[in-house]
Order: sequence, then structure tokens, then C-alpha cells
Amino acid sequence: MPSDLPFVDLFAGAGGLSLGLARAGLTPVGAAEMQGDALATYVAAHEAYFPGSALQVFEGDLAQHSLCSLRGQVAIVAGGPPCQPYSVGGLRRGIGDARDGLPLFVRVVREARPEAFLLENVPGLASGAQRARLDAVVAELAALGYGVDWRLLRAADFGVCQRRQRLLVVGTRRGSFAWPEPTHGPGRPVPYVRARELLDPARPLGETNPALVTYARSPDLRPSPWDGHLWNGGGRPIDPDGLVPTLLASMGGNKTPWLDGGGVVPAYHAHLLAGGEPRAGHVPGARRITPEEAALVQGFPVDMPWVGPRSSRYRQVGNAVPVGLAEAMGRALRAHLVGEPAADVA
Ligand SMILES: C[S@@+](CC[C@H](N)C(=O)[O-])C[C@H]1O[C@@H](n2cnc3c(N)ncnc32)[C@H](O)[C@@H]1O
Repeated sequence: MPSDLPFVDLFAGAGGLSLGLARAGLTPVGAAEMQGDALATYVAAHEAYFPGSALQVFEGDLAQHSLCSLRGQVAIVAGGPPCQPYSVGGLRRGIGDARDGLPLFVRVVREARPEAFLLENVPGLASGAQRARLDAVVAELAALGYGVDWRLLRAADFGVCQRRQRLLVVGTRRGSFAWPEPTHGPGRPVPYVRARELLDPARPLGETNPALVTYARSPDLRPSPWDGHLWNGGGRPIDPDGLVPTLLASMGGNKTPWLDGGGVVPAYHAHLLAGGEPRAGHVPGARRITPEEAALVQGFPVDMPWVGPRSSRYRQVGNAVPVGLAEAMGRALRAHLVGEPAADVA
């Protein structure tokens, strides 16, 4: 191996997964990505955070590349194949969907023969009709000589201020993989990170999003003021004392979560519960989070060199694996492969 635990990131996006693995002491040496802005962000971040270190870039459709040259060069194949076919919000077409990256992931594992692999996806792949697809992929990977295990992990349990859950599939050639222990939350060493620790309604990070927050004509009340649809658009209000709703790749415009700078949400919810009339117009003091703030929630560094217009940056951020979750997985992989945890990286 040319370096200490080198890895390739397939479907690399802007690199949330890669940054987390690198923080755990693994070395990014290759990245495959077909979307121009995401690849440009990934490469710019690599140059900024790993200056002078080589990166083999597989640009365009991964289906057009052979990664046989990576055999003996990478310890880990990592990647989050496109997840639209499986997300609960999507059409759940699964098998046969052109956006199904799972066969490509299996093919690269066969070509590169790494010590271990890490596949990330949406929880929907492990439930309902899609579960058979997950089981089939696990069987294919096991047939390549790997012990394969999977779990659904909550990003918040690893210090990420978000409700996001992810499916992680790990394969190793020997021994059984020890999953990372949650570090944050009730009964754990550290409480969940609260939104107010990261986001300040009065201090936007980056250029503000002009999409106003407006009251819904026919509000749909739920027990929590932070759920339900009291407002127009898909973007939900962020409870400053709770976790940020799962950030979606479709963020942008009124699908973007927002901050309740005017303290309107609990009071308006109470007003409606008491039988008050729905209001109309703009919600005073409300503003939507910027791509930079969404990136902070996902655990990206503040100086991350994002490339592309606002809509593209929201998509890159929403698509990413939270850096803290990836780091926890990286530490567990490192411990499995070399028997030692990584030193703390600031
Ligand atoms: C869910 S995102 C990955 C996010 C990434 N793991 C991160 O943490 O930032 C999936 C990425 O796969 C890319 N992609 C989809 N199909 C691809 C293909 N056939 N070849 C290369 N890249 C592909 C998409 O452009 C998208 O950026």
C-alpha cells in the first residue's frame, strides 16, 4: 500500500464521507464523481486540506471506468451510491432504476479487492420491498470473500445536530467488525448538540436565502410546534433546543429549513391549539438557513471551498454523509484494520 489506509470514494459528491474518513486517519487517494460542481468542490477541498497529496480522479459516469488499477493500492472502497431509488420520499423503483449505483459499487469491490468496504445509503433500502435488494447486494459482496454486516445509525448519536439516519454496510476480510459506540444523547457522555449551538437567526453565515416564510392557509396541527404544516413550503422550522430536520438534497427556495428568529413557532402553535384563526403573510423574524449553515450542520469545515450556484451547493450539502458520522465509521474501520484508534484530529 502506498500510504496508511488509503481509500477510494465512489459517488464522492462534495466529500462529506471522505472528510470524515480522513479525520479518522484514513487517506483519500481516489474519487469518482459525475456531477461537475460536486467534483470541483471535492477536488478544491482535497487541495485545501491535503496539499501536495495525490488524488486519482475518475470523472464522469463510473460505469465508464475500470478501477482494476486500484488493486493493491487501496485498503478501503467507500461510497454512497445514488439513493433516489430507495428514499422513502422517492418513487421506490429500486431494481432496474438507471440511478441504481449498487451494481457499480459491487463491481468496484470485485475489481479493487480492498481489505474492507463501507457502503452508505438511505434507511429505506433496509425496509419494505427494498429489503430484498439490500439482502441480494449483501449476498453478492459476501460471495466476494467479505464478512458483511449492516446497521442503521443515527447521526445525532455521533455529535451531528440532525435527525438524519443512515444505512451503513461494512465488509471486512477477517474478524468481526465492531460498530462505533454512540457518544452523544441521553445517558451518554455528551448530550445531543442543539441547533442553537450552531445556528444564530441574527447572524447568517453566507448570503441569505430570499425565499420568505409564510403562514399556511390551512394549517395541519401536530402535537409538537416543530412538526406539522403551519407554514407554506417543504422547509420546516428548526427547534433551537432540538435537532435540525434531515437536510435534503432538494433544499433550496421554500424547501429550505428555517430559523424562528421572532420566536413565533411555539406561540402560534399554542394560538391555533386554543382555536385561534390562521394568520396570513410573512412570519416575522423567520429566515431560511444558507448553504453554508446547512454545511455546518452536516459537519463540513467553515472554510470549505464550495463550487457552484446556491441550488447546487444546497444539493451537494444535502447529499452528503455527515462528517461526524463518517468519522465514527472511519475510526471503527481503522481500529478493525490496524488495531488502533486514530489520534484526535482537531
Ligand atoms: C448521495 S451523493 C454522495 C455524497 C457523498 N458520499 C458525500 O458524503 O458528500 C451521490 C453522488 O453520486 C454521484 N453519481 C451518481 N451516479 C453516478 C455515476 N454513475 N458515476 C459517478 N457518480 C455518480 C452523484 O452525482 C452524487 O454526487
